[in-house]
Amino acid sequence: MQHKRVGVIGGGPVGLVTATILASWGTRTALIEWDDRRLRALEAGKAPFFEPGLDELLKEELEKEFLVVGGDLSVLSASPVTFICVGTPPGPDGTPDLGDLERATADAAEVVPEQGVVAIKSTVPPGTTSRLNAKIAESRHDIFFVSCPEFLREGEALHDMRSPSRVVVGGTDPQANKRVADLFAPSEAPVIFTSPTGAELIKYGSNAFLATKISFVNELANLCDLVGADVTEVANGIGADPRIGRAFLNAGLGFGGSCFPKDVRGLEEAGTTRGYTSWLLKACTDINAQQRYRFAAKIRSALSGSVAGSRIAVLGLSFKPGTDDLRQAPALDIVRSLRRDGARVVATDPVAILAAASLIPEVELVPDPYECVRDADALVLATEWPEYLALDWARIRDLMRGNVILDGRNVLDRKLLSSLGFWCYGIGRPVVAPNLGDEQDRIPHVATQQSAESR
Ligand code: UDX
Repeated sequence: MQHKRVGVIGGGPVGLVTATILASWGTRTALIEWDDRRLRALEAGKAPFFEPGLDELLKEELEKEFLVVGGDLSVLSASPVTFICVGTPPGPDGTPDLGDLERATADAAEVVPEQGVVAIKSTVPPGTTSRLNAKIAESRHDIFFVSCPEFLREGEALHDMRSPSRVVVGGTDPQANKRVADLFAPSEAPVIFTSPTGAELIKYGSNAFLATKISFVNELANLCDLVGADVTEVANGIGADPRIGRAFLNAGLGFGGSCFPKDVRGLEEAGTTRGYTSWLLKACTDINAQQRYRFAAKIRSALSGSVAGSRIAVLGLSFKPGTDDLRQAPALDIVRSLRRDGARVVATDPVAILAAASLIPEVELVPDPYECVRDADALVLATEWPEYLALDWARIRDLMRGNVILDGRNVLDRKLLSSLGFWCYGIGRPVVAPNLGDEQDRIPHVATQQSAESR
C-alpha cells in the first residue's frame, strides 16, 4: 500500500501534535524544526513543552519510523502536502506577528513538488492565505494553497487532534482540498469545505466566540458581586438552554494563553484596518484584562484593605491546568500586583515553576503546595489544577497562619472550607464565613477577625 506522505514545518504545540498523530495514522511525516535546541529535544523524543502523553507518542512514532524530524527543508520535495505550523506570536499591539509564517511559506514554496499543496495551519488574520498564495504565484503557478486551521486545546491536544469536532479546509481547488481532508479521514470527523478566508474566519470566530462567552459570564459575575447572587447557579440556569450550553460559562480570573487574547485582538484588528470598529471584541478584551486586577483588589479587601506585610500563598501559575504555558497567565499579573502592594508571595505549580522562575524572580517558588501555604495569611487559588482540589484542607488550615481563601476559579468546596474555619471568597459568589458549629470560637487569626468586622 502506498503510504501518504506529508511535511510539517514547525515543531511547536500545533506542528508536533499534528505530525505525531498523522504518523500514528500511517502517514509518512517529515517534521521540520529550525530551532536547534528544539530539534535536539525532538530527536531525543522529548517535546520542548509540556503536553500530556506527547512524549510517549513522539518516541513511539520515531521508533516506528513513520515520523522523521530534521532541519532540512529539501525532504519536502517528496511531500504532496506540507502543513505550515509556525507560531504567529502577538506583536506589541497584541495582533499576530506573521514574520515566521511568511518565511516558512516562502521556503516551502521553493521545495514542494509540482501540484503540491501548502496548508496553512497556523492561526492567521482573514485574507492571509490568499495573500500568500498571490505572492508565491509570482514565482510558482503549479502549487495550491489551503487554510486548514487547528482547534487544539493545550492539555487536551492529542484528544482534540484525534477526535476533532470538525475538519475545516479552505481552498479554491476541490482536488487540493480533498487531498488535505483525506489525511484526517481516520478521525471520522465531519469535513467543512469553504474558501481560504472562510476557514480563517471559522478559526478566529470560534476562538473569539468562546472568549466572548467567558467575558460575558465574568461580567455577570461582577454584577452578581454587586446584587448578591451566585454566578455558578446563574451560569447553570443560563447554560441549561441548549442554544447557549454550559461550557465556557465558568466565571473566574478570565482567559489567558497564546490563543484567545491574540485571536480576539487579531479579529478586532481585521475590522479596524478596514475602517470597522468591533465594540463587542474590544469589550471582550477589556473585561478580560480587568478581571485579574479586580481579583487582586478583592484579595486586598479580604485582608482588611492592605496586603502589605502579609504572606500570601498562590496555588497555580500556568494559564490553565494541563500545561506549563504561562503566556498571558492571570496568576502572573496577580502575583506582580501583590508584590507591588508589599505582600510576600510564595507560589507553586505542578509543572510551570521552572518556566516561571525567570518571569517572577521576586517570588518564592516551591514545588510542594503544603510548603507553599505554611504560615500564609491568605491562600489564592489561581489555576484549577486537579491536584489542588484534592488537597488535605484540614492540614492546610493547620499549616496556615490566617484563614482566608480566595478561589480565583470558583472550584473549591466552600462548605468544607467553612466547616474547617476558613473564610472563602470567590468571583461572583457570596463570601462564605467560617462555620465551625460548636467550635465557632476557633477563628484563629486576630487580623481575620478585624477583617471579618470590616466586611
Ligand atoms: C483554545 C481553544 O479552546 C482551542 O479550540 C484553540 O485551538 C486554542 O485556544 P486553549 O487556549 O488551549 O484552547 O484553552 P481553553 O481550554 O480553551 O481555555 C482558554 C482560557 O479560557 C483559559 O485561560 C481558561 O482558564 C479560560 N476559561 C475557559 C475560562 O476562564 N472559563 C471557562 O469557562 C473556560
